[in-house]
Amino acid sequence: ITIKEYEGRYFPASIPDIPSQWKCMQSFDADDNDIIICSYPKSGFHWIWEVVTMLVNNTTSISKDLPAKYNLEAGVRNVEQLPPPRVLGSHLYYEQLPASIRLKKCKIINVIRDPRAVAVSGFHFFTKIKESKWTGSWAGYLNLFLNGKVLFNDWFQHTQLWERVRQNNPDNPIHVLFYEDAKKNPFYEFKRLARFLQLDVKDSIIRTIAEKTKFSHMRISKEAAIGHRLGNVFAGNTYPLYRKGIEDDWKSYFTLQQNAEFEQIYKERMQYNKLQLKSVVNPGNTDTGCVEETRYGS
Ligand code: A3P
Repeated sequence: ITIKEYEGRYFPASIPDIPSQWKCMQSFDADDNDIIICSYPKSGFHWIWEVVTMLVNNTTSISKDLPAKYNLEAGVRNVEQLPPPRVLGSHLYYEQLPASIRLKKCKIINVIRDPRAVAVSGFHFFTKIKESKWTGSWAGYLNLFLNGKVLFNDWFQHTQLWERVRQNNPDNPIHVLFYEDAKKNPFYEFKRLARFLQLDVKDSIIRTIAEKTKFSHMRISKEAAIGHRLGNVFAGNTYPLYRKGIEDDWKSYFTLQQNAEFEQIYKERMQYNKLQLKSVVNPGNTDTGCVEETRYGS
């Protein structure tokens, strides 16, 4: 992937004509019942899109679609003609979403993942995609990540701005879902999701959804559902959108020094936030870096 800058934001260069796409997105006419999954890239959008789509359709079948098609930045034209409720995705800030989404108070699911895992996942994405011209090292990518010179810019700013929206507008229907929590207890987290979405889905269905969307099943089921191999656009037949799907793979990449620096930057930049990484707040914590905060919308 190569990156194009448009008004200070870094977009995938694969999006044709970003300015007109942006304009087109801003005029998107959302339905009151549309659901938007908002996340910083590599935080688990593909997974949660699948779960929400299954909950909305009250089904245990994996969809035949690729979630990327439902990403607002990638092309609202893809989704405009589909009947609501649509399960959409975006990597933008709240203020940058189409006005109709904000005016109609569509339900938003804010997916958040440990930024160290996000950085490692992004590194793989950049180096594995065949069209990518980027051949840098992990240390080089981490440096770009910490400086916000990556797709959709800075993780810290993204996370802070979303937190501010949740705090300033407690009536807005925004549900926070942590990747690490969903990994630990998918049934519980997906039940909370169903409750937030006001969907009446039986526990037995939620349990099956949790099972079927487990990483180990997901990639295989997805290939079977869409009927072709997912690896085509990536080197080595890997597919980084379904790569490892675990909480603590970042530990195999961060050196102790890099982690200490990351924690320091996190402490400085997130000091006024409620959102805190357990392992930073509580050094020596053997947890995988799961995030904790006072729960919103629970
Ligand atoms: P890793 O690269 O750490 O494996 P996004 O969908 O936002 O681009 O995020 C991609 C990340 O989510 C990748 O992380 C991917 O493997 C992981 N992922 C995809 N499906 C998943 C699932 N069913 N369960 C857990 N993680 C999943």
